[in-house]
Amino acid sequence: MTPVTEVMTALKLTDRINRIEPSATMAVVAEADKLRQQGIDVVDFGAGEPHFATPQHIKDAAIAAIQSNFTKYTAVGGTTDLRDAIAMRHGQDFDSNYRREEVVASVGGKHALFNAIQVLVDHGDEVILTVPYWVSFKDIVRYAGGNCVLLEADENQSFRVTAEMIERLVTPRTKLIILNSPSNPSGAVMSPEDMEAVVRLAHERGIWVISDECYVYLNYTGRLFSVGGLRDFRERTVIVGSLSKTYAMTGWRLGYALAPASVVSALQKLQSQSTSNPTSIVQKAAVAALTGPQQCVADMRAEYIRLRDHVVNGLRSIPGLRCTRPEGAFYAYPNISAYFGKDGIKSASDLAGRLLREAHVATVPGEGFGTPDHIRVSYATSVKELDRGLERMRKFLASL
Ligand SMILES: Cc1ncc(COP(=O)(O)O)c(C=O)c1O
Repeated sequence: MTPVTEVMTALKLTDRINRIEPSATMAVVAEADKLRQQGIDVVDFGAGEPHFATPQHIKDAAIAAIQSNFTKYTAVGGTTDLRDAIAMRHGQDFDSNYRREEVVASVGGKHALFNAIQVLVDHGDEVILTVPYWVSFKDIVRYAGGNCVLLEADENQSFRVTAEMIERLVTPRTKLIILNSPSNPSGAVMSPEDMEAVVRLAHERGIWVISDECYVYLNYTGRLFSVGGLRDFRERTVIVGSLSKTYAMTGWRLGYALAPASVVSALQKLQSQSTSNPTSIVQKAAVAALTGPQQCVADMRAEYIRLRDHVVNGLRSIPGLRCTRPEGAFYAYPNISAYFGKDGIKSASDLAGRLLREAHVATVPGEGFGTPDHIRVSYATSVKELDRGLERMRKFLASL
């Protein structure tokens, strides 16, 4: 038993809180912060957030909201302006036709996802999840009492998942399939054809699909795609979206779900008993983000592509590292297993821990994402920082 688990058992906390672990990515951020507080210069490849500042017109809208005293409670699921703006943006960009009643705004995409899983998954239900998965999927499903059925993506196929692979895991107990394209941590992008096939299959078998599209605009294949645009299959689909990555707004906490009205009303009911509305000021900023100029999104995407190419070339030039080429999000996911057995390193956690403590480069070990042979390298930073970090990694790995 870990000390934390022992304390929890002693305090007789609930079964459900003991079923989950703290977020692995948050743990890295905390450890890197501790080193920084000691004055150590850490190169941060751990953070899952854009390095860009929030665009000025979005900040201005928040300031104006404060000045005009838009500081009271709003409707639980967001103002009508905001819900209309979310539906409008999605409709324009992905050819969907969601109505206001099919939109709920939440305190970040994670909040929308958490609520959606609580609303859709019961004890004993099976939830199909692709490995590597974003850390929170597994724990949120467990919190709801569901069982994760894991689908290993093939690294030799750049971690791409097909509808056929998912279909093989469907059983009579399957309640939900979670898609995440582009993926955190692998950056893999499913083809629109495969996504459509999954949604069609789910529709036919009465299975729910949650499509986590928090990185939907950070897709580098040239084909932006949301399953929300598949108008004929909407009744079994929940889209989870977020402004965090798209508009460099991670700290503002604004996400949303697009779903059938009955699901949205259940999501609002749950939200009404916990957080209530997302911050009123942030809602005004979000309307400005969604209805204002979109060039900032395209500019950031172009820069991420440049950074992606830079980091993948750098990682591939380090002896022993294998790295697939991510097609979206802002993470590279190199395979570091060639270093296992060297200087006592047995796992990705060992390697990431020593990389942080000895070379002062923060990365996230793959165990939290379900693959123990990898580390996640966030390339949402400057080329200069990438070069500094890559050089430190190269030296450290060569010293093993
Ligand atoms: C796959 C995925 N989904 C959802 C989120 C949640 O983002 P937020 O709560 O900031 O909207 C993240 C954040 O890292 C993510 O990587």
